[in-house]
Amino acid sequence: MNNNTTNYLEQYDAAADADKYPLVRGWMYSEPLPFFKELREKRPILVTPECTLLALFDDVTDVLNMPKVFTVELYIPKMADYLMAHDDDALHTREKSIMMGLLNRDDLPQVRVMVANIAKGILDKANGRIEVVNDYCRMVPATLVQDYFGLTGADRKDLIEWSYWNQYNTFHNQPFDLLPEALSKSVADHQKEVSEKLGKYIAGLILRRLPIAKAEQALSALLAPLCLLKKLLGLQSSRTDKKLTDDIVSRMLRSTYPHAVDFDIKRLGVNAGGLLIGAIETTSQAVSQVIQFLLERPELLDKAFNAAKMDDPKAFDNIVWEALRFVPIAPYLFRKTASEFTIAKGTGHATTVSPGTIILPLTQSAMFDPKAFESPDEFIAERNWYHYFHFGFGSHECLGKYVGMVLIPEMVRQVLLRQDIKADGGIDYKSGPFPEQYNLFWTN
Ligand code: HEM
Repeated sequence: MNNNTTNYLEQYDAAADADKYPLVRGWMYSEPLPFFKELREKRPILVTPECTLLALFDDVTDVLNMPKVFTVELYIPKMADYLMAHDDDALHTREKSIMMGLLNRDDLPQVRVMVANIAKGILDKANGRIEVVNDYCRMVPATLVQDYFGLTGADRKDLIEWSYWNQYNTFHNQPFDLLPEALSKSVADHQKEVSEKLGKYIAGLILRRLPIAKAEQALSALLAPLCLLKKLLGLQSSRTDKKLTDDIVSRMLRSTYPHAVDFDIKRLGVNAGGLLIGAIETTSQAVSQVIQFLLERPELLDKAFNAAKMDDPKAFDNIVWEALRFVPIAPYLFRKTASEFTIAKGTGHATTVSPGTIILPLTQSAMFDPKAFESPDEFIAERNWYHYFHFGFGSHECLGKYVGMVLIPEMVRQVLLRQDIKADGGIDYKSGPFPEQYNLFWTN
C-alpha cells in the first residue's frame, strides 16, 4: 500500500530494475486513480522494462488510431484468424462491416426488452437472494447469446466457460500480466481445450441450422410475389420474412455473398464464435463492478434508483457509464509497436519507441484526464459519451458496443429495482482477473 499518494515515481525510480514493472502493475490494480494522476502530472509516458504506459487522453487516442504502427499482434496466438487479430486490412474491414450490418441497430429496443425479461425472470425466481456473478451477470448475456445471437442448442454453462477461458487467455495471460508459469500454462491449456469444444459446437450448429435457414429462405422467395401483391393492395405492409426464425446466426446463414466478397461458411463460423466470446465475461465484469460501485455509495444509489424508475432510460444509463469510468473492466488496452515512432512529438514528454515495444494505453487514466473530463474526480453522470473508452477506441472499437450499451445498463437497472437491495460482502475475485462471487439480497 502506498501511503503517500504523490510518491509513486520516487519509489519507482528507487526500485531495482526487476521490481519496477511489478510495482507499477500492483498500483494499476490496487490504487489506479492516484497513481495515474501522478503519471499524468509528472511522467505522462512511463517507460518500464516490460512495457511503456501512456497516461494522457491525447496520447491514448493517437496511438489507438494507428493500428498499423501500434498493432494487436499479441492477439494473434490467442485467437487464430478472427477479425480482432487483424490490423486495418481487408479481412478486418470486410468481416467487421458484415457483422456490424447483421447486428442491426434497429434491433436494440427489442434487445433491451429481451434483456429486461431475461433479467426479471432470473431475479423473480431467486426469491430475494442471489449469487449474482454466476447466476445473473454471466447467465443473462449467455441467454442473450442464445436468444438474440442464435447460438442455440448448447448448455449456457458451456457457453459461459468457453467465453471465460478465451477472455482469460487473451486479455489476462500476456507477458505483462506476470502470471506464474504454471498458471499461465494452465490458462492456455484451458483455452485450447474449450476452443476445440467451441469449434465442434459451431460446426454442429451450422450443420443443424443451415438446412432450416435455406428452406426458410426458399419459402420466403416463393412467397415474395404474393406478399408483394398483398402489400400493393394494401393488405399487408410488413416484411415478407416476418415469421422466419430471426437471430444473428440465422441472418448469417440466410445471407449469400458472391465469391469475390470472400465470406464463406468457415468465416461465418469463426464470426459466430466471436459473438459468444466477446459477450459474456466482459458484460459480467462490467455489471458486477457497477452494481458494487453503486451499492457502496448510498447517495448515488438513491439517484440511480430514482432514475431506474423512469420510462426514459437515458438518465439511468448515464449513471452506469459514469460508474464504469471508476471501475472499468480493465485500466488499459495493449498494443505492440511495429515500427519506430515518436509518441507525443513536439511536447515535453515526447518519447521514441522502437519496434517490439509493448504499449499500454491507460484508458482509465485517459478518462480522468482534465483535458477531456472536467473535474475528473467528481461523479458527473451527464458527461460527453464520446470520451469514454468503455468499448475501446479506434479501428478495434467493440463490435458488440451497441448491444453492450443496452445490455449492461438494463441488467444493472433490473437489480437496482429490487426492493431494498443489499450486498452480503464485496465481490470475490478468487485471485483471478474476473468477478467470481458476489451475494445480493432484497425483500420480495
Ligand atoms: C455484447 C457482445 C460483445 C461482442 C460480440 C463483442 C465483440 C468484440 C469484438 C469482435 C471486438 C474487436 C473488434 C475489432 O477488433 O475490430 C471487441 C473489442 C472490444 N470490446 Fe467487445 N464485445 C461485446 C461486448 C463487450 C462489452 C460488454 C465490453 C465492455 C464493457 C466490451 C469491450 C470491448 C473493448 C474494450 C474492445 C477493444 C479491444 C481492443 O481495442 O483491443 N465488449 N469486442
